[in-house]
Amino acid sequence: MNESNKEESVQKSAGKIYLVGFGPGSREHMTQRALDAISESDVVIGYSTYIQLVKDLLEGKQIVRKGMTEEIDRCIEAYEQAKQGKTVALVSSGDIGIYGMAGPTYEVLLQSGWTPQSDISVEVVPGTTALSACATLVGAPLTHDFCSISLSDLLTPWPTIARRLESAAKADFVLALYNPKSGRRTGQIVEAQKIILRYRDAKTPVAIVKSAYRRKQRIEHTTLDKMSECDIGMLSTVLIGNSTTFVQDGLMITPRGYANKYQNITGDLHEGEKAGHSLNMGLLSWHECILEYAKKHPEMSFPELATYFITTEAQIYSAWQMSAEPINNKSVMQAADTNGVELAIEHIMKTNNFTLIVYNHGVELRVNVQKSDIMVNKGVIRIKNEQMTMNIERHTIEQIWLVEDQSKQFVFTDFEGRTLFSVLT
Ligand SMILES: C[S@@+](CC[C@H](N)C(=O)[O-])C[C@H]1O[C@@H](n2cnc3c(N)ncnc32)[C@H](O)[C@@H]1O
Repeated sequence: MNESNKEESVQKSAGKIYLVGFGPGSREHMTQRALDAISESDVVIGYSTYIQLVKDLLEGKQIVRKGMTEEIDRCIEAYEQAKQGKTVALVSSGDIGIYGMAGPTYEVLLQSGWTPQSDISVEVVPGTTALSACATLVGAPLTHDFCSISLSDLLTPWPTIARRLESAAKADFVLALYNPKSGRRTGQIVEAQKIILRYRDAKTPVAIVKSAYRRKQRIEHTTLDKMSECDIGMLSTVLIGNSTTFVQDGLMITPRGYANKYQNITGDLHEGEKAGHSLNMGLLSWHECILEYAKKHPEMSFPELATYFITTEAQIYSAWQMSAEPINNKSVMQAADTNGVELAIEHIMKTNNFTLIVYNHGVELRVNVQKSDIMVNKGVIRIKNEQMTMNIERHTIEQIWLVEDQSKQFVFTDFEGRTLFSVLT
């Protein structure tokens, strides 16, 4: 065989792997590309339930059914078959790249020495994922920012899942919970509910959709406080609203935000708003909004303003320092950015006496400190006297703000803009 014949034979024997997401389960919600990919394939590999869902498309094809725990076997099988020159479809419900087989298949291929330049080509065929399929059945709950979190701790440690739930709940994302519950995993949804309830109203709308676009489809509307008592299983997706989501006439809707700009959505613009331009509370002018509001509410403290605007104290200080004039008899200056923090600390620590104020979740501690009480050693600022010992890891200080009213206060904030402590001179 000469070289060009050899090349031709390698080309002919090069297989192809389609990673096919076939949507929620009904034929009408499958893409044309998914249908074509299956039709072109010699071999179709999948979890037995998935094979069952597309069985009418598989006539004349070699079918490889695998169990739920045999995910990696499915990837290996796909590669082995493709190495024999076959076209293989590895099928999965929804979108195969979302909690699906696309990631593990690429991992197995790359570990076996495959590269995208290899003879075996790989194509990922997108599909409608459960969260969008389920959303369509209950209204429009995902019209604003949302977050999908899987409650399966089979491969992800629970603390990771809990941290993600906490962050998403805190940031007011609409939540889509995949893998919420199974025969063995019954406690995760209860824990998730507890975490989310710390940040969200008990009456927040929740929709539970089981087997969307399949024969046993079931939809239940409930509220966050009742969520875990509902009928939830392996084939359910749980959609939890954000602080603006409402239910009307059986439809769960998360507003897109038009009401922020227009009266009654279709009416006139609110005063000060312009069509096609960022909101008044947009990136360029939200600091001005804070100042306007603060002027109307002189009784409010910096922490109270931060709570009202759902932001950090550092953002309130940063808005304040834009004003050339004091507001409510208070002025703010950034005493140091990250680069200047060292110099500012040195300067403050030279003060003979000051009051150290430490805040922690509503608890305030005030202690008088002398210059001689302070030591700086290996990145730690230690304040030690008869009343207390406090160690401050220098790297936690991101910015320092000079806040002046009748007194002069240096406020130390961390990288998230939260106040660590203040120094009153
Ligand atoms: C391993 S994940 C697979 C997700 C899939 N790749 C997708 O994009 O939808 C399995 C989870 O998806 C959700 N799910 C999949 N199909 C569903 C359907 N037809 N109706 C409701 N939820 C579904 C459930 O939360 C289920 O526990």
